Amino acid sequence: MAAQIPASMKALVGNRSICSRIANFAFGKSSGDGVLVKNVPVPEISDTEILVQVSCVALNPTDFKHVDFLSPKGAIIGCDYSGTVAKIGSNAPGNWSIGDRVAGVTHGGLYYDKGSFAEYLKIPGDWAWKVPFSVTDEEATTFGVSAATAMLALNTRLGVPWGSRDTPILIYSGATAAGLYAIQLAKLAGLTVIATASPRSHDLVKEYGADAVFDYRSPTAAEEIVHAYPNIDRALDCFSEGTSTDFCVNVVRRNKGWVVTLLDSKKTESEGVKIEFLLAYSVFNSEFQWLAPIGPKFPKKPADNEALRRFYASLPEVSTKLKTPPLKKIKAGFENLSVGLDMLRQGQVSGTKVVASLK
Ligand SMILES: NC(=O)c1ccc[n+]([C@@H]2O[C@H](COP(=O)([O-])OP(=O)(O)OC[C@H]3O[C@@H](n4cnc5c(N)ncnc54)[C@H](OP(=O)(O)O)[C@@H]3O)[C@@H](O)[C@H]2O)c1
Repeated sequence: MAAQIPASMKALVGNRSICSRIANFAFGKSSGDGVLVKNVPVPEISDTEILVQVSCVALNPTDFKHVDFLSPKGAIIGCDYSGTVAKIGSNAPGNWSIGDRVAGVTHGGLYYDKGSFAEYLKIPGDWAWKVPFSVTDEEATTFGVSAATAMLALNTRLGVPWGSRDTPILIYSGATAAGLYAIQLAKLAGLTVIATASPRSHDLVKEYGADAVFDYRSPTAAEEIVHAYPNIDRALDCFSEGTSTDFCVNVVRRNKGWVVTLLDSKKTESEGVKIEFLLAYSVFNSEFQWLAPIGPKFPKKPADNEALRRFYASLPEVSTKLKTPPLKKIKAGFENLSVGLDMLRQGQVSGTKVVASLK
């Protein structure tokens, strides 16, 4: 039985023309917040989907990057959400009931009927997870982009071996939201975790499980890591800008290891080290294109979708063993989401995850 569902809903949508987005890309900066709160139709669900009434969202750097460079006018922004189940497709997997607490990640910023900065969103029943009572709505939102990225990097790209205590891994920029989840998932797998962070974040990354922390600005840090962990061959670069990937390559090159980056370094190999760019949007199991028809196309990756479904099936239990990143709650309501996006755009967020209640 479905709850009363309106025909239209409020959503935060992109509002930049293709010309202004291309200009932003060319000049590397943007002006104005580039979004609009708009009334749009409530998405129709298929037989295998559920409709979620969204209560809270988390904000990610990818959201403002979509607004500035990628989102067509009118596309719903936002990936991370928590809420309650409002309607269930006749064949939706997941054993859902109306009113169940639910959270997850959706492909925000590219489509008119997908995106979490909206009163309702649709999602296949097994691409979302049941939130236990021990986890609040705000905390639940953080298991979207950041957690899924950390899981994909370790599980599907770096082949992290389970329970091998003397296997070290480098998490570069461990204080990022993705980094804090990567540290914890690597620790759960039994690895020795070496992180980099600026001194202000050393205590934070240790609190989340890092066995050792080095300042990424120190010119001797890479060498010190190699000296202390000579068998290190895996690195996850959670910053992926400037010289961060070179730092990671320096750490793993003696063992011809591999580095996963979260932004495209345009390199697939350096000094015998394999470099792989991971884009977590691959969990959505469909091909997509940025700045169509001229921009890059991304292929469908069914294995990444399977990994997300396995991860979310395990989360009701595993979430109780993970600490969410420290939360920075901004003022509730759609009108305030652009303020949060701007905080991320201006680089004002450090060691916290920005979350907001929609009401
Ligand atoms: N490809 C993907 O699928 C994917 C997924 C998630 C994120 N990302 C990208 O990964 C990046 C991080 O995202 P996030 O949400 O995890 O970040 P976040 O939580 O917003 O990151 C904030 C942290 O960045 C660190 N930082 C700032 N300047 C730095 C520098 N010069 N060198 C190293 N670290 C620095 C700071 O750590 P300190 O306090 O230690 O300085 C700060 O705590 C963003 O560019 C995002 O777009 C990509």
